[in-house]
Amino acid sequence: MYTQALNQKDSGPQVAEDPERLARFEARVAAEDKVEPNDWMPEAYRRTLTRQISQHAHSEIVGMLPEGNWITRAPSLRRKAALLAKVQDEGGHGLYLYAAAETLGTSREELVEQLLNGKAKYSSIFNYPTLTWADIGAIGWLVDGAAIMNQIPLCRTSFGPYARAMIRICKEESFHQRQGYEIMLTLCRGTAEQKAMAQDALNRWWWPSLMMFGPPDAQSAHTDQSMRWKIKRFTNDALRQQFVDATVPQGHYLGLTFPDPKLRFDEATQHWQFGEIDWEEFRQVLAGNGPCNRERLEARRKAHDEGAWVRAAALAHAAKRKARLAAQRMAAE
Ligand SMILES: [Fe+2]
Ligand SMILES: [Fe+2]
Repeated sequence: MYTQALNQKDSGPQVAEDPERLARFEARVAAEDKVEPNDWMPEAYRRTLTRQISQHAHSEIVGMLPEGNWITRAPSLRRKAALLAKVQDEGGHGLYLYAAAETLGTSREELVEQLLNGKAKYSSIFNYPTLTWADIGAIGWLVDGAAIMNQIPLCRTSFGPYARAMIRICKEESFHQRQGYEIMLTLCRGTAEQKAMAQDALNRWWWPSLMMFGPPDAQSAHTDQSMRWKIKRFTNDALRQQFVDATVPQGHYLGLTFPDPKLRFDEATQHWQFGEIDWEEFRQVLAGNGPCNRERLEARRKAHDEGAWVRAAALAHAAKRKARLAAQRMAAE
């Protein structure tokens, strides 16, 4: 899935950087040179990226839960196979992203611990429930659609391992978006009851999808520095507008109505104008009070505990293998 620009202050002391090194770093970034793990980088750059990439990884992993909920109830073998593949892709995205975050010096164990103890955030969208099969369509269409808007510019982000992970992830996201839209299209061409299900899913997922782009630019704590360091290429509001402009005609093609009486096309700007987002709801969900926050974290903790024997077995196997290789080398000498 995706990254969210959260309004969260950096923790840890502010480090005074050597001005010459900082200037060299900034000149490199301005020249579109990629920053690699062993290069010198300002502490704030390392911290911002560690936070952003790990939040992104957590979002992929937690994002498997709402859709995983429907794998056993998919309406046909074809739908089940596509959904299973999509959910597996999200797990893979989480893994590449944890690996990219680890190159900045924080271990995966530590990053996972921050998710499980509630210190790290993940995208607010995954704290909403999937009530009907149409929600699987709406998630692919809207949530993966919003993820693509956010992630395409990240393919050019200044940190090399993140940018490279995003290229593969974006290819998979576009399949996710299309499978979701196709579910919506099938429902909208089906019975009146199926179309009503699709409408209800749009009604529930539309506003939370707009919140995925994070707080308005005026309130976003990280935008300026992240833009200067080319971690971000577009602001939250610019990406949100792009998403609305791309998605509204798709919804109209489905014959659906957006749950926003203020939505209208502005001829002067050639953009779709939309109503006020309920930022209080966003804050509540981020603070842990969304409809499914508790359930999501419990599911992750349970999976982590139940996977303990797998991690222990993998470590024991690696240790045995190392010992066997060492013994073979000794015997050969
Ligand atoms: Fe996805
Ligand atoms: Fe993903």
